[in-house]
Amino acid sequence: MKVSIVGLGYVGLVTAVCFASKGIETVCYDVDEDKLKKVSRGIAPIYEPGLEELLTQSVRGGKLRVSSRCSEVVHNTDLTMITVGTPGDQDGRVDLSQVKSAAAEIGEALVRDNKKHLVVVKSTVPPGTTAGLVRSIIEDESGKTCGVGFSLCVNPEFLREGNAVYDAMNPDRIVIGEVDEGSSAKLLMLYEEFYGERLPPVLITNHVNAELIKYANNLFLAMRVSAINMIANICQRIPGADVEVVAKGIGMDHRIGPHFLRAGLGWGGSCWPKDLMGLKHLSRELGVDVPLLDATIEVNENQPRMAVRLAESELGELRGKRVSVLGLAFKPGTDDVRGAISIKLVGLLLERGAEVVVYDPVAMRNARAVLHDSVSYADSAQECIKDSDCCFIVTEWEEFKSLKPQDFVKLMRNPILIDGRRIYDPREFMGKLRYKAIGLGT
Ligand code: UDX
Repeated sequence: MKVSIVGLGYVGLVTAVCFASKGIETVCYDVDEDKLKKVSRGIAPIYEPGLEELLTQSVRGGKLRVSSRCSEVVHNTDLTMITVGTPGDQDGRVDLSQVKSAAAEIGEALVRDNKKHLVVVKSTVPPGTTAGLVRSIIEDESGKTCGVGFSLCVNPEFLREGNAVYDAMNPDRIVIGEVDEGSSAKLLMLYEEFYGERLPPVLITNHVNAELIKYANNLFLAMRVSAINMIANICQRIPGADVEVVAKGIGMDHRIGPHFLRAGLGWGGSCWPKDLMGLKHLSRELGVDVPLLDATIEVNENQPRMAVRLAESELGELRGKRVSVLGLAFKPGTDDVRGAISIKLVGLLLERGAEVVVYDPVAMRNARAVLHDSVSYADSAQECIKDSDCCFIVTEWEEFKSLKPQDFVKLMRNPILIDGRRIYDPREFMGKLRYKAIGLGT
C-alpha cells in the first residue's frame, strides 16, 4: 500500500513518518516549500520527541519522500490523507480554506487517475464537512462520483503533542466514518499492515459520528481538567486540603480512572481551545444550549487569574515587581505556544504593571514571535528567577523539577514561588520559602 499525505502539520508529519518507519511508502505534499525542503533533508520543522530520528531514517531508507506537486503524490499512491490545519476564529467558526484547497487539488489530480482512489479526511472538521464540502469539491474538480470514481471517509486523529509518535504507534482505537459504503476497507488494510497483530479496536461508523467523536473526545478531556481545576480552587481555601491527594483518590475509582486529572493553571494547545470553541459555534447554529461546555471554558479562563491572585496575596500589588515565568510551551515536550496559558498569564502580569522575565527550554523562539519585546528573555531557569520577586511554574518541564528550595532562596530577591503545575513536594518547599501551589490549602 502506498500512502500520500497532504499537509505537513503535526498530524500529517507524524503520521507520514510513522507509516514510513514501518516500511510503508509515503509521499508528502505541502504548499510550504520550505517545510518540504526541511523534511526532504530529514529535518523536523517542529519539536516532537523521537520524530526527527525516525524522519531521518525514513528519508534515508527511501520510504518517505516529498513532492511540491499534489497531482504527483496522488497518482503514485493508493490513498491520500488530508491533514491540513483547520484554525478557528474568535467566535469558533472553523476556517476550512485549507481543507477546500486540498480537496480541490486532490480532485484535479483524480481526473487522470483510473483506479478508485481513497481520500481520507484526518483534519478535525465540523460534522457534515466531509460528506458535504469535501465530497462536492472533489466531485466538481474530478468529474467523478463519490463511491464510483473515488472513495471518501473520515478518520480522526487523537495524538497528543509531546507524545505524538507514541500515540500514533499505540492508539487506543481507530475511528473510521464512511461517506460511501465500504470506503473503510482500504484504510483498514493499511492499518492492518501498519499495526500487524497490535491493531487496536476499530470503530466503523458514518461520517458525522466520526467527525463528532473528535470534538466530543476533546470536550470530555477538557471537562475533566476543568473539573479538577475547580476542585483545586476549593482545596486552596481549605487548610490541609491537597488536590493532588483528592485526584489520586477519585482516580482510583475505575469509573473515573487516573488520567487527565492533573490540576494546574489550565489547559491550552492548538486543539482544545479551537475545538471547544468550534463545538460551541456549532451548538449555537443548532440552537442547542451547552452549559457544561461553557463552564469548561469559563473555569479555564479563570485559572491564570487565580494564580495571579495567589501571587498578589503574597506580594501585594504587582506593579514594578519583577516576576519570573518558568515554562512557555502549552505543555512539556513541545515548542508549541498556541493557546498556551503562559501567554495569558504574561498578559495579566503586564496589565498589572509587572516586569516579566520568561524562560522555556524549547519554546523561546515561538514565544518571542508572540510576546515580542513586552518581556525579557532569560537563557536558563536560574537566570530567569534571578532577582525576581515572584516566580510562576507554568509548564512542568523536567529541568524545572531539579530546582531546589535553596536555588530560589539564593537567586530570587523575594523568594515567592507559585507552583502552577504541582511539580514540587510541598513538604520540601514549605517553610524554606513562601511556597504557594494550585490546589494546596494552607
Ligand atoms: C489533545 C488531545 O489529548 C488529543 O487527543 C487531540 O488529538 C489533540 O488535543 P494535546 O493538545 O496535544 O492533545 O495535549 P493534551 O496532552 O491533551 O493536553 C491538553 C492541555 O491540557 C495541555 O495544556 C495540558 O497541560 C493540559 N492538561 C492535561 C492538564 O492541565 N492536566 C491534565 O491532567 C492533562
